[in-house]
Amino acid sequence: MTNASHIHSLTSENIAIAANVLKAGDLVAFPTETVYGLGADATNGLAVAKIFDVKGRPYFNPLIVHLPDIESALSVAFFGKQAEALAQKLWPGALTLVLARRPDTKLSQLVSSGLSTVALRVPAHEGTRSLLKEVGRPIAAPSANRSGRMSPTTAQHVRAAFDDEVTVILDGGPCQIGIESSVIDLSDGKPTLLRPGGVPLEVLENALGQVITTSMCSIDNPRSPGILGPHYSPSIPLHLDTLLSGPGEALLAFGQVTGATLNLSASGDLREAAANLFAHLHTLDDGQYSSIAVTPIPDDGLGRAINDRLRRAATSEE
Ligand code: TXA
Ligand code: MG
Repeated sequence: MTNASHIHSLTSENIAIAANVLKAGDLVAFPTETVYGLGADATNGLAVAKIFDVKGRPYFNPLIVHLPDIESALSVAFFGKQAEALAQKLWPGALTLVLARRPDTKLSQLVSSGLSTVALRVPAHEGTRSLLKEVGRPIAAPSANRSGRMSPTTAQHVRAAFDDEVTVILDGGPCQIGIESSVIDLSDGKPTLLRPGGVPLEVLENALGQVITTSMCSIDNPRSPGILGPHYSPSIPLHLDTLLSGPGEALLAFGQVTGATLNLSASGDLREAAANLFAHLHTLDDGQYSSIAVTPIPDDGLGRAINDRLRRAATSEE
């Protein structure tokens, strides 16, 4: 793997090296049958934060977690009868299931953007599954493009988008399907198609034996009302850009701040802050405090996504 191009063929040796890169908390771009993904260890919040950073996302949206087989998927989320039926019939494949997270899962909160659900997919691409088996951990992976750009369907697309920022790109040739997976929400007993994709709606309805509702709003546009509803916000008020907390109020800090109840990153590291954001909000929302004061966070890089999330929570539009 010394090739300056960063593009590596899918040999077992390169898969083993890529697996170690993922375990060490770094990113690997890899092929799937739908589009190329930009992967990180889904149990490592810092690694997941890198995905948002490198993609240049101005907001957090939940990511798809990839697993090598149904058994490993069963260990991170609750599958009802409907989910089990779809998984048995259509996995591995271009189908993503949104399900309730198991409370004991080691998945980072950032992969779910603080939601109690998680999106899971077992991809069909043999090379991807070998990589997932070799890593032995769930892998979060959005499409490997910069925010707002087209999804990549070749390793060359990925390299052109990221240049030196993604050092390991596995090349599995052009993607067979070329559009993202279909995303269906089965977390509340009412099957809802959140994103049309590689598996047609008719095929899903056939497999499920019932009609599936389609969500009116694009899930890929978190500024649309549809995505706001299910997003997690604390049940108590948030006060932003303040260095002081009032009586009964928690102080959520960033950087060197005295009197912090919790600190997103004492060293002022935005990736660390992103990794801690949802977990800290959950912790402070446990009934002990009447509100949360948040100290200023720089509005650049990942700070934009952090501030966007905090502003939404503070105006409690949800
Ligand atoms: O084909 C694909 O699905 C590709 C390849 C790499 O697997 N991945 C992909 O991931 O497109 P991403 O992160 O770009 O798309 C994830 C989609 C988004 O529309 C997101 O909003 C939705 O799934 N999603 C993820 N978790 C969710 C959740 N807990 N609830 C609702 N929607 C969720
Ligand atoms: Mg995408």
